Parts: sequence; C-alpha cells; structure tokens
Amino acid sequence: MNFDLTEEQKAVQLAARDFAQTELLPGVIERDEQQKFPAEQIKKLGALGLMGIMTAETYGGAGMDTVSYVLAMEEICKVDASTGVCMSVNNSLVCWGLEHFGSEAQKQKYLKPLASGERIGAFCLSEPEAGSDATSQRTTAVEQGDHYILNGTKNWITNGNSASVYLVIAQTHPELKHKGINVFIVEKGTPGFVVGKKENKMGIRASDTHSLMFTDVKIPKENRVGDDGFGFKFAMQTLNGGRIGIAAQALGIASGALELSLAYSKERKSFGTEIFNHQAIQFKLADMATKIDAARLLVLKAAYLKDQHKDYTEAAAMAKLFASQVAMDTTIEAVQIHGGYGFVKEYHVERMMRDAKITQIYEGTSEIQKLVIGRELFK
Ligand code: CAA
Ligand code: FAD
Repeated sequence: MNFDLTEEQKAVQLAARDFAQTELLPGVIERDEQQKFPAEQIKKLGALGLMGIMTAETYGGAGMDTVSYVLAMEEICKVDASTGVCMSVNNSLVCWGLEHFGSEAQKQKYLKPLASGERIGAFCLSEPEAGSDATSQRTTAVEQGDHYILNGTKNWITNGNSASVYLVIAQTHPELKHKGINVFIVEKGTPGFVVGKKENKMGIRASDTHSLMFTDVKIPKENRVGDDGFGFKFAMQTLNGGRIGIAAQALGIASGALELSLAYSKERKSFGTEIFNHQAIQFKLADMATKIDAARLLVLKAAYLKDQHKDYTEAAAMAKLFASQVAMDTTIEAVQIHGGYGFVKEYHVERMMRDAKITQIYEGTSEIQKLVIGRELFK
C-alpha cells in the first residue's frame, strides 16, 4: 500500500492551500454574513484549473485524477466551504457527467467553458416533493417533434443563479418509473425558465441556493444527455463521484477546525498555562485528529477506487457518511476549545460548525448513504 502523493498531487494541494489563504480567507466572514457569492474568487479558481480538475485538457480541464480533486477540495474547504460547494458541483456533478455521458457536440459547446471556469454549472435533481426519494420526479419533459417541453420546479439548486448551464432531470415516460427519466442541458435565459428565490441558509451562506421554475420550456432534442431513459442512471452514477467531493468538503471543514483549535490552544492561557496543557483539551484534539485521519483515509480510498475504474459506490457513500459526521463532531469541539471566542464570528469556528451540518444532508442524507451501503452489502 502506497500512501505517498505524486509530485503533481502535491503541487495541486499546495496551489489550493495557497489560494485558500490568499484569495479566500480575506472576506470569508463578510461573504458568509452578507450571503455574497464568491464570483471573483470562482473566476480565479477557474484560471488555476480548479473548476475542471478531472476534465481532460482537450475539453478545457486540468486532466488530473480524483485524488488531486479531493486534495484540492480539502484545502479550499478548510477555509471556505461555500466556495467549495460551487467548485464541487461544477467539477464532479456537471463536468464529470457531461464528459462521461455527453455527446461530442455537447462537450464542445458546454463542457469546455464549464471546465475552464468561464461558465458555472448546476445539477438539478431535487424538487419540493422529491429529495431523498429522487425517483418520484414531478418535473416533466414531453417529447414534441424535434424538442421536449419542460414543466416543473426544482428546489435547493446550488449555483442556482450564478450558473448559466443547468443539468435538469425530468420524467418523460411516467409509466416506466425511473427508467423513463431523462436529463437535459438547459441554458439560462431560455424562455419559460425562471430563477426563484434565494434561500437564507444556516451554513454555506455564500453559496447560491435557489429554486428554479420551468413553464413550457422548449429544449432541443440534442440537449438530452445520453439515451432516452438514461436520466436516473446518469444522476446516480454522477452522484457517486459527487459524494466523494462532498466527503472531501466535510474533511476540509473538519481539518480547518482542527488547525484553528490547535493554534488557539497553544496561545490561550488559563490557570497559568496554555490550555493545550490541560489534558481535557489535549484529549479533544487527539480525538479530532484521529477521526479526521480516518475520514481522510476513506475519502482517499474512494477517490483511488474511482481513479482505478473500480466500483466506488459503497466507498463513496461510506466516505460521505463518516466524514460528514466527523465534520459535525470536530466543529462542535472546536467551538468548545475556543470557549466564548468560539461563539463569535471572528474566530471562524462558529461558521465551520454551521457549514458542517449541510454535509450530512445534501448529495444524499446520512440515512440515504446508509441505505446505499446496506444495499451494496447485500449484493
Ligand atoms: N449508483 C448507481 N446506481 C444506483 C445508485 C448508485 N449509488 N443508487 C441507485 N442506483 C440505481 C439502482 O441500481 C436502480 O437501477 P436498476 O433499475 O437498473 O436496478 C435504480 O438506480 C433505482 O434504484 P433503487 O431501486 O434503489 O431506487 P430507490 O428509489 O429504492 O432508491 C435512492 C434510490 C438510492 C434512494 C436514490 O433516490 C438516492 O440516491 N436518493 C438521494 C438523492 C440525492 O442524493 N440527491 C442529491 C441531489 S444533488 C445535491 O444535493 C447537490 C448538492 O447538494 C451540492
Ligand atoms: P427528505 O427526503 O424529505 O428527508 C427528510 C428526512 O427523512 C431526512 O432525515 C432523510 O434522511 C429522512 N429519510 C427520507 N427517506 C428516508 C428513508 N428511505 N430511510 C431513512 N430516512 C429517510 N439538490 C439538487 O438536486 N441540486 C443541488 O445543487 C442541491 N444543493 C443543495 C444545497 C443545499 C444548501 C441544500 C439544503 C440542499 C441541496 N440539494 C440539492 C437538495 C438535497 O440533495 C436534498 O435536500 C436532500 O437530498 C434531502 O432531501 P429533502 O430535503 O427533500 O429531505
């Protein structure tokens, strides 16, 4: 077993770490407070190659592996999980989905500007009444000559307003249940497509979460991705990789909280000594570090399996399930280690605690990850 990173992987990790410190840290508290989307920062991430890390260079990406992707995600999310989720959706749901299942024309037209960071993508599966139960899609796409007519509402869409390319999942043949679902590329500005209200969230507040409404939206047939009825498989297979990205986001939040807690515990004094010297604090830090290391191993294992073209469904679900719990546990302890200072915004850990929660909910809740793992165990 080789745990060493390649020179290329180390370079991307360092580049992302440096970017997070110089470009994301300044203003991260204000963006969270004001729910301000990090538009300029995302442009710069694109220029660095981090919006299409795994996409082939011929399609505008950086042509790197999934291990590089999770290393970069961890570094970005140590500092700013809101920027991290925008990056994750674009990389692992939109670019990966289009590269693996899109037509050559779709790749030329849409993947290239998405992978290079010129445009931002969104992945639209959830609906007001279809979250975990994703097969019960109410959005319809009815075939009509050389196009489809799309009607319905999508909920909670990350990059909802900042995106300009949307992968929209919809039901075409209800009698076939999930085998009748399709996925379409929809451009912002298409008549009948309206971006709804922005959600006022607990965490990842600088990310841009909206509902989307589609009323008689005309979609050319060439914008369907894959064969007729492939939409649900597309969503599930794409989400397997997405879950690795969110697991890396959770890992980043957790390891960021540990770094801040370690530094603080060496500075803050009580009873005549640095709080690090109190065994109660050291034990908290030891538990945090151990859990984070275990989460990192699961995340890297899932990424490694994906890079080796092996089945990673179970590994991705395990990584997300575990890393998201670790993010929750460690950020709660980070606030505790900071005492009263942990409860105010300047020290970052209160934001991290709020940001951690979403990693147990989106891209499949923890309960759904257990369901996926359980089904894999029975196979
Ligand atoms: N990988 C590949 N295929 C999968 C799969 C997976 N992880 N999970 C299910 N499938 C396949 C099944 O094999 C089955 O295929 P066949 O018909 O060929 O056998 C098909 O999908 C239907 O699966 P089930 O029969 O298991 O259907 P179900 O309704 O009982 O369960 C589910 C499906 C696993 C619960 C699924 O609905 C699910 O994953 N729900 C969670 C939805 C989710 O993750 N949403 C995330 C939205 S995106 C997002 O959140 C982005 C963001 O925040 C940033
Ligand atoms: P529900 O499915 O209603 O679940 C409610 C509770 O019941 C949960 O605890 C759940 O685990 C539990 N539950 C449900 N079914 C079962 C079961 N069978 N067994 C055990 N427990 C169960 N979606 C997108 O498509 N694209 C996005 O970009 C996107 N971004 C998001 C960003 C944010 C900030 C948020 C909050 C959500 C986002 N989502 C997105 C939606 C997200 O994926 C869903 O919220 C999630 O899948 C859960 O669905 P739900 O909210 O409808 O909860």
